[in-house]
Amino acid sequence: MAASFAPLHHVLFIVWFLPISFSLSFFFFKAESISNVSCNEKDKQALLTLKRGLTDQEHGLSSWSDHKDCCIWDGVVCDKNIGRVSELYLKDLRLGGEISGSLLQLEHLNYLDLSFNDFNCTPIPTFLGSMFSLTNLELYGANFCGLIPHQLGNLSSLRYLDLGNNSDLFVDNLRWMSGLSAIQYLDLSFADLHREVDWLQIMSKFPSLSELYLSNCQLDSLNPSLGFVNFTSLRALDLSKNHFNHEIPNWFSNLSTSLFELHLYNNSLKGNIPPSIFNLEKLEHLDLGINSLNGPIPSSVGNLSRMRALLLDQNQLNGTIPKSLGLLSKLETLYVGKNSLTGTVDEGHFRKLSKLNDLYMSEAPLFFNVNSNWVPPFQLYYAHMSSIKIGPTFPSWLQSQRSLSILEMSMSGISGKAPGWFWNWTSKITSINLSNNHIECNVSDIFLSSTVQVLNIANNSFYGPISSFLCQKKIRKNKLEVLDASNNLLSGELSHCWKYWQSLIHLNLGSNNLVGGIPYSMGALVNLQSLRLQKNSICGDIPSSLKKCSNLRLIDMGDNHLSIIPLWIGEMTNLLVLRLRSSEFKGYIPQQICQLSSLRVLDLANNSLSGSIPNCLKNISAMAFPDSYDISFFSMSLIYPYVYASYVENVQLVPKGKEMEYKENLKLVRLIDLSSNNLSGSIPAEISDLSELRFLNLSRNHLMGKIPEKIGSMKELESVDLSRNHLSGEIPSSMSNLTFLSLLDLSYNNLSGRIPSSTQLQSFEALRYIGNPQLCGDPLPKSCTIEEQSLNKSPIGSVEDDSENSSFYIGCENSCNPRQLQLEADINKLFLYQGC
Ligand SMILES: *[C@@H]1O[C@H](CO)[C@@H](O)[C@H](O)[C@H]1NC(C)=O
Ligand SMILES: *[C@@H]1O[C@H](CO)[C@@H](O)[C@H](O)[C@H]1NC(C)=O
Ligand SMILES: *[C@@H]1O[C@H](CO)[C@@H](O)[C@H](O)[C@H]1NC(C)=O
Ligand SMILES: *[C@@H]1O[C@H](CO)[C@@H](O)[C@H](O)[C@H]1NC(C)=O
Ligand SMILES: *[C@@H]1O[C@H](CO)[C@@H](O)[C@H](O)[C@H]1NC(C)=O
Ligand SMILES: *[C@@H]1O[C@H](CO)[C@@H](O)[C@H](O)[C@H]1NC(C)=O
Ligand SMILES: *[C@@H]1O[C@H](CO)[C@@H](O)[C@H](O)[C@H]1NC(C)=O
Ligand SMILES: *[C@@H]1O[C@H](CO)[C@@H](O)[C@H](O)[C@H]1NC(C)=O
Ligand SMILES: *[C@@H]1O[C@H](CO)[C@@H](O)[C@H](O)[C@H]1NC(C)=O
Ligand SMILES: *[C@@H]1O[C@H](CO)[C@@H](O)[C@H](O)[C@H]1NC(C)=O
Ligand SMILES: *[C@@H]1O[C@H](CO)[C@@H](O)[C@H](O)[C@H]1NC(C)=O
Ligand SMILES: *[C@@H]1O[C@H](CO)[C@@H](O)[C@H](O)[C@H]1NC(C)=O
Repeated sequence: MAASFAPLHHVLFIVWFLPISFSLSFFFFKAESISNVSCNEKDKQALLTLKRGLTDQEHGLSSWSDHKDCCIWDGVVCDKNIGRVSELYLKDLRLGGEISGSLLQLEHLNYLDLSFNDFNCTPIPTFLGSMFSLTNLELYGANFCGLIPHQLGNLSSLRYLDLGNNSDLFVDNLRWMSGLSAIQYLDLSFADLHREVDWLQIMSKFPSLSELYLSNCQLDSLNPSLGFVNFTSLRALDLSKNHFNHEIPNWFSNLSTSLFELHLYNNSLKGNIPPSIFNLEKLEHLDLGINSLNGPIPSSVGNLSRMRALLLDQNQLNGTIPKSLGLLSKLETLYVGKNSLTGTVDEGHFRKLSKLNDLYMSEAPLFFNVNSNWVPPFQLYYAHMSSIKIGPTFPSWLQSQRSLSILEMSMSGISGKAPGWFWNWTSKITSINLSNNHIECNVSDIFLSSTVQVLNIANNSFYGPISSFLCQKKIRKNKLEVLDASNNLLSGELSHCWKYWQSLIHLNLGSNNLVGGIPYSMGALVNLQSLRLQKNSICGDIPSSLKKCSNLRLIDMGDNHLSIIPLWIGEMTNLLVLRLRSSEFKGYIPQQICQLSSLRVLDLANNSLSGSIPNCLKNISAMAFPDSYDISFFSMSLIYPYVYASYVENVQLVPKGKEMEYKENLKLVRLIDLSSNNLSGSIPAEISDLSELRFLNLSRNHLMGKIPEKIGSMKELESVDLSRNHLSGEIPSSMSNLTFLSLLDLSYNNLSGRIPSSTQLQSFEALRYIGNPQLCGDPLPKSCTIEEQSLNKSPIGSVEDDSENSSFYIGCENSCNPRQLQLEADINKLFLYQGC
């Protein structure tokens, strides 16, 4: 799923356009076949040959055997009068292999359905074009590839041709189609048709064509110059997801008098919406979303009295929403969000919209201004009204919406007290997003119906002890999966009631006034994928019970008063992000951290960690190798999608010296930040194996020794900050290979010799190198003496060995003996526990 909003433009279309007549016959064929017909021997042999060619792992054809009457085999229908096979329903049986030419023996076959199988990217068999009795050929989603055979054009009886959603079909031209004189239903979605520039003229010549699906066909132009295109019988037209980047042609207005469904979404259509498009008076479904249309919504929109779904979202439409919209008494779905529409929306816009149930109005500079006693004519299921102005007062009309399932009302300028009814007005609600308002509410007043799965109240003024929310008897049966209450005024200690919240997947209580320790009972949250307690005053230990939360992908406990990094952290092998910065951590960085092979973000900055940098970091394979697993898995674990929207984790990181918020783009980050601690020893040479690392900050520690010689092999590095340590020796010449480097800080160390030359290294300010008295050369003002120059030419090999040895030695000094480490950790723990 794309960003935080992805309207399901396709869903309605699928629901409406199941070819009803044909799917009904599918359900009835069994009953029919019980009658007393016996199978023609030739047909039976043909079917057995067909079966032999096919792979049938699911045994969907197990009833096809020598002995029985083939008319009672699964999926086979015979014509009673002549005892010949007339229909074959082999849909969704996971069939593969070869489709035998024996099918040609079935001279009376008129219905062939092989949809939703997997023919392994083989071509559509050309002999199908010789099955002249076929009226229906359904090969939807069957993984056929290659050229669509011209021979299909010989099927002059064909009424229904469905080649949609195959992986890689294409045509060289469509002239062969002219033979399909009986065609009524044509689906070529996902086939590459771009080579046929005259597709429109060809398709519009079929007198009986009623449904045409050409979504995702790489089509480039709707030929705006054509004067007139008259599809005589067309009822449904889907041209979504093509590459049309011109205006909507005038001929659309006269496309067909019977058109009732038109999809043009997700192209790059420009210009205004032609008012005449609303002359298509039978139109029930119009989807122009996700284009670049501008200008106003024509007021003639009110002429479409049959309209049930109007989707104009994600364009650049401006002006006000016409009041005539309020006349569309059949309207169920209205998407106008993500546009530049301005002005006020009031009761008039909804006057007759009694059927409206799906409203998407988010992200437009609109002012939703209705009377406080307004009772809307509609009952919404989905209300997407984020980032439009609704407040300051709480919208009381919501109280009438008793079927509401999803409420998105974030950033809508609502302030003041949440009314008492709000927490108990609908029993159908599953998702509430009131984040980024100024709502004041005592958390002990919150009531959650057992249907609620998502509650986002981040960035408001919810107050009171968090335990009075978490421990309420009346909400113990909750099914909450996402709770984001960050940036509020919650107080008190994390409660002991976590056992009632075991459905939680994402929990964010950051930026509140929470105090006390992390309770052992939090280990009950075994489904948790993200745990965020940042920016509170939480103190003490991270309890070992959290080990049980083994699904954790993200831990953010930064900006608290915690103690030591537990050794068991190494068991949390699903961790992608570990953020423990600025949280008073003491003791060592446990070697166990290297067991976190999926880790992409390790932020331990600004603590009091001592000892050396573990010399096993190269085991963090997510930083060492290009994505070894599905990137979508990574994204999905930090995104919680629900109908039309999603909750996306955001994390504050400091990639280049400045704090930044990462959301979807978190998946691109590989970061180690150990800055501002008391780390000693040298930088382990092995760190240069982390060739996917993009941001490395080890500044403000007591690190000694040389910069790893092979640092140049960390080719993705964008930012390296090693400043304010005691690093010595020369800057490795390999550093000049870091072509993506946009921030480098080596200042205040004991580095010496000439700064290697490269486009990057000389582009940084002298400031990034100062405080190294023996460093010389551009961009420093100090030029190099002969001596310093020759020093820099010493053979790389020997320098390298040296640094590796020393790092190994120093690295081991403190952290190679696990027993020693455990002991020190325990001592630390004992000491700090009393402090909390
Ligand atoms: C397309 O076909 C694939 C493979 O059969 C299937 O998984 C997918 O759901 C289909 N998509 C649609 C939109 O039907
Ligand atoms: C079927 O179509 C092909 C190609 O369009 C053509 O060459 C062939 O002669 C046709 N066959 C019959 C039997 O009509
Ligand atoms: C389109 O063609 C049909 C049949 O040829 C005809 O009846 C109809 O009037 C035409 N529509 C327009 C708007 O010209
Ligand atoms: C538009 O369609 C393309 C495929 O043609 C798809 O990759 C993209 O996600 C779609 N955009 C939206 C916003 O749905
Ligand atoms: C559409 O048809 C109407 C009459 O039905 C006609 O007046 C108009 O000129 C036609 N528009 C185009 C673009 O052909
Ligand atoms: C269509 O809408 C326009 C503008 O609202 C109006 O002037 C016109 O009379 C309407 N046409 C029909 C046929 O209703
Ligand atoms: C809408 O945008 C166009 C430019 O795209 C501009 O010329 C026009 O004045 C705008 N209309 C309104 C009502 O803002
Ligand atoms: C919520 O409303 C229902 C029915 O109106 C009522 O039975 C229930 O006690 C209310 N719950 C709370 C917590 O107010
Ligand atoms: C919190 O909301 C205010 C306005 O309501 C906004 O200015 C601020 O950026 C929001 N903060 C966050 C962290 O989203
Ligand atoms: C919140 O409500 C509870 C129960 O009504 C009350 O005891 C408590 O004092 C309130 N808290 C605050 C901070 O107003
Ligand atoms: C709620 O609104 C915020 C801000 O508009 C958005 O980032 C988030 O994805 C929405 N949904 C949830 C469940 O938080
Ligand atoms: C820089 O990279 C090139 C090509 O990857 C390599 O041949 C060369 O040895 C590297 N230079 C240094 C100084 O590491």
